[in-house]
Amino acid sequence: MHTLTSIDRSRAERYEHLLQQAEALFTGERDWLATFANAASLLYFSLEEINWAGFYLYKDEELVLGPFMGKPACIRIPLTKGVCGAAARTQQTQVVQDVSTFSDHIACDADTKAEIVIPLIKDGTLLGVLDIDSPLQNRFDELDQRYLEQFAKLIIDHIEWK
Ligand code: SME
Repeated sequence: MHTLTSIDRSRAERYEHLLQQAEALFTGERDWLATFANAASLLYFSLEEINWAGFYLYKDEELVLGPFMGKPACIRIPLTKGVCGAAARTQQTQVVQDVSTFSDHIACDADTKAEIVIPLIKDGTLLGVLDIDSPLQNRFDELDQRYLEQFAKLIIDHIEWK
């Protein structure tokens, strides 16, 4: 059983703070593009040891690059490819501790060693995915997953999707 360490507690506190900031940023603005752009920036500057944070949007049966922070990335990802494709296809969060072991991983940046991808589902419809990359192996754990899924839900609940 995983016991909560003081490091976990302080990480949890930081995530709680991040969610409060997100709530304040997203409240009163329903434009999805503005909200996604601010969300990418907030994640990029709030999370430690990450090198990319952003969105891919589901459009014409593939994922298309949306607002992000980090180096330029591949623009189109079919649902059959990559960690992003797997998250969109299965509608389940994908946590990859070492991208070199994920045969299907799409390497946009050679520095990336670990990745978490959260599907964005609104009223049963796939909108896209939230993708966060790290230059450290084993960067993302259950605590990251839990809070980042809450972050994704917060975005979905605040936007108007057209
Ligand atoms: N590595 C991802 C592609 C997107 S970039 O990491 C920004 C994947 O395998 O789906």
